[in-house]
Amino acid sequence: MSQVPDRNLALELIRVTETAALAAAPWIGRGDKNAADGAAVSAMRNVINTVDMSGVVVIGEGEKDNAPMLHNGEIVGNSFGPNCDVAVDPIDGTSLTASGSNGAISVIALSPRGTMFDPSGVFYMNKIVTSHEAANKIDITAPVKANLQVVAKYKNRSISDLTVVVLNRPRHEKLIAEIRGAGARVRLIQDGDVAAAIEAARPNTSVDLLMGIGGTPEGVITAAAMIALGGVIQGMLMPKDENEAQSAKAAGYQLDKIYTTKDLVNSDDVFVAATGITDGELLKGVRYSEFGAISQSLVMRGKSRTVRFVETEHHIK
Ligand code: FBP
Repeated sequence: MSQVPDRNLALELIRVTETAALAAAPWIGRGDKNAADGAAVSAMRNVINTVDMSGVVVIGEGEKDNAPMLHNGEIVGNSFGPNCDVAVDPIDGTSLTASGSNGAISVIALSPRGTMFDPSGVFYMNKIVTSHEAANKIDITAPVKANLQVVAKYKNRSISDLTVVVLNRPRHEKLIAEIRGAGARVRLIQDGDVAAAIEAARPNTSVDLLMGIGGTPEGVITAAAMIALGGVIQGMLMPKDENEAQSAKAAGYQLDKIYTTKDLVNSDDVFVAATGITDGELLKGVRYSEFGAISQSLVMRGKSRTVRFVETEHHIK
């Protein structure tokens, strides 16, 4: 029995996110994000336990919204396989799903046991993400303009050609002004920074960087994706108040540390699978047809750096 994740896991993981996306899809646009999330979580849970692995959930549901399932520390998989750390986000973009807006995905990441950063102590992280060209050149502590200059230089473009994706939040007012002030474009998204980060790291997309504060769990999933894409994430933990800062310090988290891709997921042996729930730049959402439904997914493998896009026809009675 292989002790490291086997490449055949890739397709199995797509089944997991497909199932969650198909379960979430009937809830698109119905204004009930908890129902959508609940459906995706329980569907994901059923299938994840058929996957050949001995997985432990390092990033699960329940940190932010106390959902009862796929909680941190839960054992997943059928136990016939490698020891893995598992990160799940049955829906990244629950509000997008509820409002029928673009950009919601279901996503799972997997790496060898003990290699994933446990983000449970601090929910938010300041992040910068970009593609391979400037991967070793950016610095999250440098001024916004300096990072834009570096990315422009290594992508052989001018700053005015760069687009930075930012979560549309009041906390990002200054960041947005700085990006625009430096001459770059801003693409505001309402939610879903994992898909946006993948976009920023993939070739030939319309975004070049992701900047700003989002979820730490999403940051770890993004790191797994960056390993497979050759991109980079740097993150700094951002406690939301003094209490959270004190308990994070007491739990051993370093608030002044720059977390690199490898600090967040310390292995090349990673897999990331994602399926579109609603339409997005990265993936099409679930569509219905005369025979059932069609989904679009991608699966990435860190060791080989393979990125596969998979369109699946689901015959549903
Ligand atoms: P959920 O779908 O779990 O609500 O997360 C959506 C999301 O937009 C993430 O992509 C992002 O990292 C995080 O929420 C940002 O948090 P907040 O909405 O509190 O600013």
